[in-house]
Amino acid sequence: MAETMPKHIAVIMDGNGRWAAARGLSRSQGHLAGVEAVRTLVRECRTMGIPYVTVYAFSRENWQRPKTEVSFLFDLFLRFIREELPELLRQDIRLAFMGEKSDLPFAVRQVMQLAESKTAGCASMTLTIALNYAGREEILSAVRRAVADGVPADSLTDERLRSYMYAPWLPDPDLIIRTSGELRLSNFLLYQGAYSELYFSDVLWPDFGPAELQEALRSYASRTRRFGKTDAQIQSGE
Ligand code: IPE
Ligand code: IPE
Ligand code: MG
Repeated sequence: MAETMPKHIAVIMDGNGRWAAARGLSRSQGHLAGVEAVRTLVRECRTMGIPYVTVYAFSRENWQRPKTEVSFLFDLFLRFIREELPELLRQDIRLAFMGEKSDLPFAVRQVMQLAESKTAGCASMTLTIALNYAGREEILSAVRRAVADGVPADSLTDERLRSYMYAPWLPDPDLIIRTSGELRLSNFLLYQGAYSELYFSDVLWPDFGPAELQEALRSYASRTRRFGKTDAQIQSGE
């Protein structure tokens, strides 16, 4: 029997700026509204018992945005973690991060470390925030570190390579959702998403609520994941 519920949902939260522009608001206000949508997503997934949720909050390419927007995003991130920590603990949610930590502001790294250690014992769900993340860089730096460790070429298996990535313990996403009508991955989970089901929604991220999530889950449940096999093989459970 095929799994009808994803174990790991990963979300490319896109469209905050357009949501704000459509209302004559600033991009910052769009990002603020986006944070509310994250809270809703986390609550819904926790209630449904989805064990892993990953959100793409800031890509390495996002550094190219105006300085004021970048610093607003980091302030917002700091505030979100600080405010959300008691609630995450109450809901037994572990918080984790993936991305290049080394070039993040010190205050951000400090809060990340605090949140990770405080929630390390939480086991009902894992919320992973992809921050300063880029899929290509993740693969490249994993290869570089494996080479630097002297791993022989023929020992560099899938499992070994993954051990050098940001979150080796995280299962591959079953479902990747992207909002705002854009049909691309924007450097998100390039390695881990090899067999993920993709779901694209036209809704802008701040408007992505419980109904939109249910729609994505319905779509997921209706699909056949073949992993290269035939339908007959899948039906016979081979
Ligand atoms: C997604 O919304 C949030 C981040 C990338 C940080 P955008 O800020 O990309 O919103 P649009 O795409 O400009 O509408
Ligand atoms: C992808 O959104 C990154 C995040 C959601 C954090 P972007 O808005 O940066 O993507 P592009 O530039 O439209 O591909
Ligand atoms: Mg965007």
